[in-house]
Amino acid sequence: MMMTVGVLIWVVGVASGLRERPEWRALEAHAEEMKATHLRELVEDEERCARLFLEGPCGLVVDYARQKVTTRTMELLFGLAKSCEVMAKRDRMMRGERINTSEDRAVLHAALRSSRDSRVEAVVEKILKFAEGVRSGDLRTAAGDAFAAVLVVGIGGSQLGPEFVVRALEDARLETRFLGNVDAFEVATRGLDPRRTLVVVSSKSFTTTETMRNAERAKAWLGGGDVSDRVVGCSASREKVEAFGASRLFEFWDWVGGRFSATASPGLLPLALAAGADAARKFLDGAAAVDAHFAEAPLERNVPVVLALLGVWNKNFLDLCCRAVVPYAARLARFPAHVQQLEMESNGKSVGANDHRQLDVPAGEIVFGEPGTDAQHSFFQFLHAASPVPVDFVGFLRGTDAAAHDDLSANLFAQPDALAIGTPEDGTLPPYKRFAGDRPSLTILFPRLEPRSARCPFRDNNFPTNHPRLGRSSRFTNIARRSRGAWLWGINSWDQMGVELGKTLAATIRAHIQAAKSSSTTDGVVAQPAPAMMNPSTR
Ligand code: F6P
Repeated sequence: MMMTVGVLIWVVGVASGLRERPEWRALEAHAEEMKATHLRELVEDEERCARLFLEGPCGLVVDYARQKVTTRTMELLFGLAKSCEVMAKRDRMMRGERINTSEDRAVLHAALRSSRDSRVEAVVEKILKFAEGVRSGDLRTAAGDAFAAVLVVGIGGSQLGPEFVVRALEDARLETRFLGNVDAFEVATRGLDPRRTLVVVSSKSFTTTETMRNAERAKAWLGGGDVSDRVVGCSASREKVEAFGASRLFEFWDWVGGRFSATASPGLLPLALAAGADAARKFLDGAAAVDAHFAEAPLERNVPVVLALLGVWNKNFLDLCCRAVVPYAARLARFPAHVQQLEMESNGKSVGANDHRQLDVPAGEIVFGEPGTDAQHSFFQFLHAASPVPVDFVGFLRGTDAAAHDDLSANLFAQPDALAIGTPEDGTLPPYKRFAGDRPSLTILFPRLEPRSARCPFRDNNFPTNHPRLGRSSRFTNIARRSRGAWLWGINSWDQMGVELGKTLAATIRAHIQAAKSSSTTDGVVAQPAPAMMNPSTR
């Protein structure tokens, strides 16, 4: 289930000249009409609402009746997807073609959960066995102590996806901490006993500056010298892990992009340690079910494709460049951060994947989020009253805390209507209490929060299927996840050269700071680098 989140859709594949396509032009003309149509009118059309609903794998459902679309909009978007050969591009990805053009790599994270690759399965088995050994106390430190805690050292994709799934599914057996930022060491290790802590160093490259610095600090904290009994590595580099002094390597491969590694060893090992082998296996199964749906479902019923097309519609045709992701579940607190990286590192691009020419339409969305209802007490005022921001609501038909579930559900189902419909326009309210509505959202519902949702109780549950205000048109709907992408935009969603630029710059400035320190008498106070140093082209 959770991996529905991770499916990144790389929407079309025609870098330049997208705006010139007849399908694009037709959508532009249609958008003018839709901009002038209020969502209040749209949600009153029961037939429309019934159609804008999808069922996906693992019991998930998606209600996108509160997007500013009609069935005509969707036809036009499907036409664009066809003309851009989205499904053919999906097939190329699944076949393992080297679609990450700038790095000349395949993009095969889906192979991590297919169980068809014996190398992958061997690593999964190794992870699950090791994790169960640690959890049961069969595997101990050299001093004979059972492990009480796990410290996962990693950053970016080696932290965000893994932390999200651990926080979503962990039990109380082991304390699990994540250490990413270079100044987070003390907080991350506070209260842990180094004699009983397992350090997992997760880094595909095993060269990322922050991770390696924290990993060295962790070794010193464990006692220094040979601490290999309490250090393991998740990486694509066997040599580097061995040189670092870890006792075990849980490998993954260069065809797994860092931000897609929630189902590779950096995600699977912490999850198996925090929630057990069974949960980790079900998590993989859920991801495989979503992959199968993505690979097989027709365009019009394909959840990741429809969600991606809605993203393109909002961004490129309705000029809505942000998206809020709001899961109504405290355990999904780190979910928005994971989606944020998936979307913004993947699709924050400005040139075509193949021709490397400037795109003629902007790609990517700004993604941010917090769990509901916390988010209602922070940025929802803006969502209701200021510029429109499409919202992805995520919820569960059965919550992890039964006593709180009705409160959560009431809010989850109230917000989409409040955003879409707003307040009455009859002039009875003072201006500061009037809300125009017409703000798009969608709702993704899962049966329950679990590694792999089993049966969807949607059809036989006790949820009302009538909305008090809108009648049957507002069926409570929809699923769970959404990622965005750019097969339509024609970009390379699989590299992250902008991040690399920042890394290069930081290395330059760090050298400057060290040089300044060694020639300075003032302790730790360093001058701002000269402007020339900020420009990597002058290096
Ligand atoms: O931030 C860039 C990036 O390469 C991400 O894509 C990746 O998730 C992160 O750094 C960590 O990289 P590594 O796993 O190699 O330490």
